[in-house]
Amino acid sequence: MKKIAVFASGNGSNFQAIIDVVKAGQLEADIALLVCDKPEAFAAQRAKAAHIPTFAFNPKEYGSKEAYEKAVLEKLTSYGVEFIVLAGFMRLIGPTLLGAYAGRIVNIHPSLLPAFPGKDAIGQALAAKAKWSGVTIHFVDEGMDTGPIIVQERFRLSEKETRESLQRKIQSIEYKLYPSILQMLLTRGEVESDKKARTY
Ligand code: GAR
Repeated sequence: MKKIAVFASGNGSNFQAIIDVVKAGQLEADIALLVCDKPEAFAAQRAKAAHIPTFAFNPKEYGSKEAYEKAVLEKLTSYGVEFIVLAGFMRLIGPTLLGAYAGRIVNIHPSLLPAFPGKDAIGQALAAKAKWSGVTIHFVDEGMDTGPIIVQERFRLSEKETRESLQRKIQSIEYKLYPSILQMLLTRGEVESDKKARTY
C-alpha cells in the first residue's frame, strides 16, 4: 500500500473524507503523515483523532521556503512517504519538494481551472457571475493552481446561488471525486483524463 502525506492548512474536511474512505477500505493507501503549516488548524485535530502523526510548522520560524521545505522533506523521508496529496494547503510548493516528488503531488481546487486560481475561488466565481463552476484535480507544478489537469467535474450555477449553496455543492463533489481519483493514481499509477491517460 502506498504511503501518502496529506498537506492541509485549515478545516481539513477533504482530509477527513480521505481518512474515512481509507478506513472504509475504499482507498488503498496508508496516510503516513499530515503536514500542516498552521499548527492551530482543525486539520491537526482530525489527524490526532485518527492517530495520524502530524508535522505542524510555522513557516515564519524558518528563514525561507527552502528551509521549511527541507524540514518537511526530512519528515516525509523519515515516514517513507511516496505521494503527496494537497487538500486545502494554501501555500505554493517550491523546488525542494517538487524536485523530490516530481509528478507525485496532486491538488484539488474549487473552480474550473484555469478560471479563478488562488484564494477564495468560490467568492471569485460569484463576483464574476460565472455561469459554471466545479472542481479541478491536477498535478502540481511551481505555479499557483497550474499544472496538468487530471479531471474536472462541472455544474451550472443556479440563479439563486449563494456562497453557502455553492460551497456545499463544491464540497459534495470534492469528497467523492478526490478519493476516487486517488485510488486510481495510487493503485494503477494512471487516470483516464478527458482524452488521454496520464502516467506518473
Ligand atoms: C477545498 O475546497 C479545496 O478545494 C480548497 O480549499 C478547500 C479546503 O477545505 N483548495 C484551494 O483553494 C487550493 N487553492 P478543507 O480544509 O475543508 O478540506
